[in-house]
Amino acid sequence: MPMTSKTDRHIALADKYGAHNYHPLPVVVARARGPFVWDVEGKRYFDFLSAYSALNQGHNHPKIVAAAKKQLGLVALTSRAFHNERLGPFLELLCKATGMERALPMNSGAEAVETAIKAMRLWGYRSKNVPAGKAEIIVCSENFHGRTTTIVGFSSDRSSSEGFGPATPGFKTIPYGNAAALEKAIGPNTVGFLFEPIQGEAGVIIPPEGWLTAVRAICSEKRVLMCADEIQTGLGRTGKLFACEHEDVKPDLYILGKALSGGLYPVSAVCAGDEVLGLFTPGTHGSTFGGSPLAAAVGLAALKAILDERLPQKSAKTGAYLKSQLETLEHPNLKDVRGRGLMLALEFKTRVRPLVESLMRLGLLAKDTHENTIRFAPPLNLTEAQAKEAFALIKKAVVDFPS
Ligand SMILES: Cc1ncc(COP(=O)(O)O)c(C=O)c1O
Repeated sequence: MPMTSKTDRHIALADKYGAHNYHPLPVVVARARGPFVWDVEGKRYFDFLSAYSALNQGHNHPKIVAAAKKQLGLVALTSRAFHNERLGPFLELLCKATGMERALPMNSGAEAVETAIKAMRLWGYRSKNVPAGKAEIIVCSENFHGRTTTIVGFSSDRSSSEGFGPATPGFKTIPYGNAAALEKAIGPNTVGFLFEPIQGEAGVIIPPEGWLTAVRAICSEKRVLMCADEIQTGLGRTGKLFACEHEDVKPDLYILGKALSGGLYPVSAVCAGDEVLGLFTPGTHGSTFGGSPLAAAVGLAALKAILDERLPQKSAKTGAYLKSQLETLEHPNLKDVRGRGLMLALEFKTRVRPLVESLMRLGLLAKDTHENTIRFAPPLNLTEAQAKEAFALIKKAVVDFPS
């Protein structure tokens, strides 16, 4: 019988027993630290995906791990049927960081998006007198907000939505980055506008300058809630604490997730004013694990790390350096280099999966989005020396990428 590697054995097992809803790179990660992961064969890689931006603080950040370990020695879960010591301090810091009055903790990003949808609808019925069952939310083409049935129902990506209908009613789609379309789409029953300040899964799509400012003005004028899904762009990823800050805009709702736990545990939240989140009453929403002592301890330490270690500023600086390096790349099929902070992308005229695989062989993990685009999103505390070393790998892979 032919010898198989550890890597092959692990992949074969997952292939045999798992649902095939992902197409992972053929690497089996065994451990990680900071911007690096090591596979089961002992090979080291730069992690330039950061679990789709859940690892802004780097893998196994010592202070977040210490907070989790300490909490595990005390109590992990109470449910919200009882109070716990960690929740208050976590919510307080979350409100201070977002400038909002209240925060509602959940687990996954999609759950937080669902929570925001419920909050906007509730606000519409209670505060805007929208007739029962008629609330409408405007969303953007090419959006990515998660995988629940309601969310995929308003996705324009057919591979996300096809086969999972019927779609939940109450959503209207407009082109991304188009303020005039938003103004036109708003009707008397519109309660909210849900958007990503930069579209991550669509391939790091940056809206035209001034769009966020225009959205803010339109939403305020028409009494529509402006709801920023900053699950991927937030918490320093784009070089500011929140991507809306690039235009000094404050939305009515922030949706956060991913890096809110530094990758240790699923922690998400919706942050908004009292006029929105104050409408929830006991029994109208909840989650067994959301806001648990462990989640709150991890969330508090993760948020502190971002603020104390000035990760948004580091992301801006290292991101500017890395982008300037990427802009020096030459390849006949290279179409665009774009991004903000450490949310960067190279778009080619051809499929980039072979480039992604050659980067993996060279020791750098990144992922293609939408076939022709490769996204680079390393942990935000990547040093300039590490960025230099990683860029050398990217350059080599691009030079060798057949045209
Ligand atoms: C902007 C945005 N919203 C929501 C989600 C969904 O988050 P989760 O996978 O934690 O449900 C993602 C995940 O990639 C995202 O990028």
